[in-house]
Amino acid sequence: MTGVSQDNHFLPINLFEYENLASQHLSQMALDYYNSGAWDEVTLRDNRAAFERVKLLPRMLVDVSDRNLNTSILGEPLQLPLLIAPMAFQCLAHPDGEVATAIAAASAGVGMVLSTLATKSIEEVATVQQNFPNALQWFQLYIHKDRGLTRALVERAKTAGYKALCLTVDAPILGRRERDRRNEFSLPPGLHAANLATISRLDIPYEQGESGLFTYFTQQLNPALTWKDLAWLQSICPLPLVIKGILRKDDAVRAVECGAKAIIVSNHGGRQLDGAIASLDALAEIVAVVDGRAEVLLDGGIRRGTDILKAIALGAKAVLIGRPVLWGLALAGTAGVSHIISLLEDEFSVAMALSGCAKLQDIDSTLVKQVSVSGS
Ligand code: FNR
Ligand code: LAC
Repeated sequence: MTGVSQDNHFLPINLFEYENLASQHLSQMALDYYNSGAWDEVTLRDNRAAFERVKLLPRMLVDVSDRNLNTSILGEPLQLPLLIAPMAFQCLAHPDGEVATAIAAASAGVGMVLSTLATKSIEEVATVQQNFPNALQWFQLYIHKDRGLTRALVERAKTAGYKALCLTVDAPILGRRERDRRNEFSLPPGLHAANLATISRLDIPYEQGESGLFTYFTQQLNPALTWKDLAWLQSICPLPLVIKGILRKDDAVRAVECGAKAIIVSNHGGRQLDGAIASLDALAEIVAVVDGRAEVLLDGGIRRGTDILKAIALGAKAVLIGRPVLWGLALAGTAGVSHIISLLEDEFSVAMALSGCAKLQDIDSTLVKQVSVSGS
């Protein structure tokens, strides 16, 4: 981890240390945008607390000398059950932004989902596939009111070799993040939403007393989107459809019926509806109703290897991480993101060993127990 240690003479040993250090490497506006949640941030905190409520029941005297963390998602191999969640504006953390993240993801054999609101373009990030032909890159779509613009984004993602289209459904408008509102969040000079600027010169506005991103969503995104529009999306895009932002059983069933090949159980990292259920708490019921008809992934609050273990025990095929990647990027670009991934990989491998699991198939629901506040 040369990039990290040389710069700091101090190598973080877990993701929380990265979180603390990142604040020294980011502007206040970027830090607030990255870390904040909506309104009182109850859901943001509960995403973490939910992992603490789930206890492990480790299995003893199992041969765990060789551990295999490999899996596949939508038929594509992954070296561990991890993807990087779509996150806007990564150049706020590092000049190489999403390209740096993509290199770290591909070299570790984990997936990456590129945001519609990336600060590097669909095509720039796809060039990473030239050096890493097995790179698992998905494109995250925000459907704009302008259907032509939306269609152009989808076609570019398909042409550039992205392997799935990940439609985010929990943001008809943007959640209210009050720190962004107070800061009048906008992109600093020189940064822009790279995928949109090339299409129609759309950009994140500055607005007095408001988050520019909130205004952008209200002006440009389509709040009238319904399940019926998924047929249109599938008619213009042959890529497998992944639906991100599901928290209810009936929505999960609907997503499967509409042809989704994977579902991401997510509350957007507590950034949309505050008070929404922690994603981990929503997982098991959704896994049950989906009943193998689609792959179920989870994001929100993953910070430790044991969190990955718990999510898989509750039925997730893989998990996504969000903010920790931005902290790694802020500290040391690709090296920082690579280190974040390797810390999680190491912790997950140790957690598997200590639970009596040599491979992912050994991680089953008998490993976890939900303990109520009274301790019963
Ligand atoms: C996000 N997220 C997000 N989701 C999405 O579908 N499209 C996007 O452009 C963004 N942008 C974005 C920016 C930032 C700064 C953050 C922190 C998050 C949500 C993201 O994909 C994911 O759901 C959460 O971040 C997961 O929670 P953790 O790991 O950050 O706790
Ligand atoms: C966010 C949007 C871009 O969470 O998804 O900031």
